[in-house]
Amino acid sequence: MRLILYITTLLCACSCYAQEYAFPPNFQFGVATAAYQVEGGWNSSGKGENIWDRLTHTRSELITDGSNGDIACDTYNKAIEDVQLLKSLGVDFYRFSFSWSRILPTGTANKINPDGIRYYNEMIDELLANGIKPFATMYHWDLPQPLQELGGWPNSVIADLFADYANVLYENFGDRIKDWITFNEVGVFCGGGYESASMAPAYNGAGFGVYLCGHTVLRAHGKAYRLYESKYKASQGGRVGITIDSGWYEPASESPVDIEAAETAIQMGFGWFAHPIFSTDGDYPPVMKQRIAQKSAEEGFSRSRLPEFTSEEIAEIRGSSDFFGLNHYTTNRCTIIPDGWGTPPSQWTDAGALCSQDADWEPSASSWLKVVPWGFRKLLVWIKNEYNNPEVVVTENGFSDRGELRDCRRINYYNSYLEQLLKAIHEDGCNVSGYTAWSFMDNFEWMRGFTERFGLYYVDFNDPNRPRTPKMSYYVYKNILATKRVDWKYSPDSFDECEF
Ligand code: NOJ
Repeated sequence: MRLILYITTLLCACSCYAQEYAFPPNFQFGVATAAYQVEGGWNSSGKGENIWDRLTHTRSELITDGSNGDIACDTYNKAIEDVQLLKSLGVDFYRFSFSWSRILPTGTANKINPDGIRYYNEMIDELLANGIKPFATMYHWDLPQPLQELGGWPNSVIADLFADYANVLYENFGDRIKDWITFNEVGVFCGGGYESASMAPAYNGAGFGVYLCGHTVLRAHGKAYRLYESKYKASQGGRVGITIDSGWYEPASESPVDIEAAETAIQMGFGWFAHPIFSTDGDYPPVMKQRIAQKSAEEGFSRSRLPEFTSEEIAEIRGSSDFFGLNHYTTNRCTIIPDGWGTPPSQWTDAGALCSQDADWEPSASSWLKVVPWGFRKLLVWIKNEYNNPEVVVTENGFSDRGELRDCRRINYYNSYLEQLLKAIHEDGCNVSGYTAWSFMDNFEWMRGFTERFGLYYVDFNDPNRPRTPKMSYYVYKNILATKRVDWKYSPDSFDECEF
């Protein structure tokens, strides 16, 4: 009896302690948005057309509510007032993206739009004047349409044009921006854009275009990183990274076959971009090269559908990131694909993995997003082990609903995921230095239009002034930032308590 009591006390002491973990003193918190999702001003003062302008204007039937980002949150006109909202939230940094077409209307660096430079200058200056660090993404999915006319990312020339664009950004803003992300979620925009037609430019190039896209983007990233290193780093003293997205891939069972399927899925979904940059050998993951070469041969292709890097490119890309930007939302369970499943060539028949979500995992407003906090910790540990514990900045994490102000389910998501993050830091020794909530405010959720809301601020898209109203989760996140702790009992006065 005494022994049982002793064990119970010990267990309680451990779990109580676990809840008491705090974020390290220098841990940085932020919120994120992306240009096309919030800015609006789609053709204001010299901005050029991009692939999302084109898609939403010509194929609105593909967008759930037929909407577009022409006005979105009207951040183009409200960026300065929004800084006060960021300040009151207490963030260390604000992650936003540059609109390539606002800076370079035709996509090429021979013609710079002065209003684009003005707009971002004013926002950056206002952020800094209010003690908020600008954390800038160069490319969050909005390729200038003239470059799409050349074939878009599958055209390898775009890598050089991206480096030219990066040069314009470093030159104009690098005196004040010290944290750069070249690309956001390459796997998603290459997959959606050139594999499954579920993102602009909605091209269906399954098993082929998707790898050409990824290849150009990796080369573009390497060029932009090396450009900063050789021309700007000494004088500007900033850092350049990339944001790669990944769910956690859990084996569907303990069987070696499922374990292998889940590992192949993560290597070919996440390692596709992480291995060339963060592994000691560089290049694509060996399993990815081997599987795509084999499948391509079986399908009658004369060479692998996965392009090859030259040894110079491998060297340029390897180590080309000063931190590991990670976007994470959810988890899948993977097994091997049954015979005859899918239509090759495709990314998934190449990987040979069939991944799905448990029916009893808590849903969100997005079909792909289920609440699985433990997957976050497993992914962080996998990164630590696979890539020698790099410095990770979580550049996105968040939950969608229909826009409720008393958003208890979002609070549950943030609290649970942040608890797992704390365990990864304190119990697993993962080197995570920052966290970014997606999103600062409700915005244009790509093909889902305004039907899925991720914001800490509610935005009324029916009101021409686009008023922003803080949701309950805004206050909870603010409290986490102020106390550096997750506190399930915290409840802002203005709302009825949530039941967890
Ligand atoms: C990741 C993307 O970077 C962002 O643009 C999107 O809105 C969120 N995921 C939610 O789907």
